[in-house]
Amino acid sequence: MRVLSIETSCDETSLAVVREDESSFIVEKNIVSSQATIHAQYGGVVPEVAAREHAAWIFPLMKELDIPHDGKGIDAIAVTAGPGLVPALRIGVELGKVLAWSWNKPLVAVNHLEGHLYSVWLETDRPPLFPSLCLLVSGGHTELILMKDHGKYQLLGMTRDDAAGEAFDKVAKLLGLPYPGGPQISKLALEGDPAGIDFPRPMLDSQNLDFSFSGLKTAVRLSVEHHASLHQGGLDPVDRATIAASFQQAVVDTLVHKTLKAVQQTHPKSVILSGGVSANRLLRETLREKLSVVDPNITFHSPAIVFTGDNAAMIGAAGMMKAKRKEFVDPLTLHADPNMNLISL
Ligand code: KG4
Ligand code: ZN
Repeated sequence: MRVLSIETSCDETSLAVVREDESSFIVEKNIVSSQATIHAQYGGVVPEVAAREHAAWIFPLMKELDIPHDGKGIDAIAVTAGPGLVPALRIGVELGKVLAWSWNKPLVAVNHLEGHLYSVWLETDRPPLFPSLCLLVSGGHTELILMKDHGKYQLLGMTRDDAAGEAFDKVAKLLGLPYPGGPQISKLALEGDPAGIDFPRPMLDSQNLDFSFSGLKTAVRLSVEHHASLHQGGLDPVDRATIAASFQQAVVDTLVHKTLKAVQQTHPKSVILSGGVSANRLLRETLREKLSVVDPNITFHSPAIVFTGDNAAMIGAAGMMKAKRKEFVDPLTLHADPNMNLISL
């Protein structure tokens, strides 16, 4: 089976062609056009601007994909239908509908988060085993999900306020770094002392598997104000790096602690770390190391760096699994759903 997939839920326009292998997915093409530099001027993603950019880019990317005009060789179309920004999602959803309808191909509506989970099945000879415990960390979501089988999800915990990626982006802004803040903070953190400031580790001792990052963000803001007041000209470069490193350490400690707590409760065979924040090296390495100490038999999976951020290849992988289960939608009635939930058990 070969799937053409479309992703426009936020600020990346992406199209891909994915086919299945024995136990993973081969990415034939995966084109990603990022709008990050455009949104950086506004300090974050502006939905209407994102939609305009998706509309401007989607056909040039379609041309670049270079597939026959009648869709020959494509067995199904997969499109992100939610969650995400409605004006942005709509561009991809409408393209998916038109292609499915005019080519007379089946259409699958993919949940963006399900796409992130399937990013670890792309181009791998060592796919995760079930049950898999997934830590999904992106700009909009921070969730612990138990994946019992393909398409079977149980939400174990989630953030009560800001997502981890959102916290990175907001703290970056406080430090005067451009959007998206995650990569900027992790780069700056290399120069700072992660133990320099003892920022709060939110909800570490609570019994549940939920997260909260807004208190940490406030603690960082107060620290920035305090350090800036000591130097007339603003933040001292050493203080800036110390704040970045200490903040990153607090986020990683919290995410890893809760994931290991979930491991003890659910006894998974594999742990999956995915979503944009999974590109963070400290997070990847800390989780991998700590997990191997807790139970060396649990396999650890994180996407190749190219598949950590938003991309259509992961939507193709999740979509193909849905297509194989014949979970098709009607191209005439599909609509974008900004609050789309993962199907739960
Ligand atoms: O999954 P994603 O590309 O988009 C959403 O679905 O939201 O995630 C984007 C988020 C942004 O908040 C960005 O700052 C964060 O992922 N991010 C990182 C890193 N790279 C991207 N956060 C921490 N460290 C990184 N290296
Ligand atoms: Zn995403």
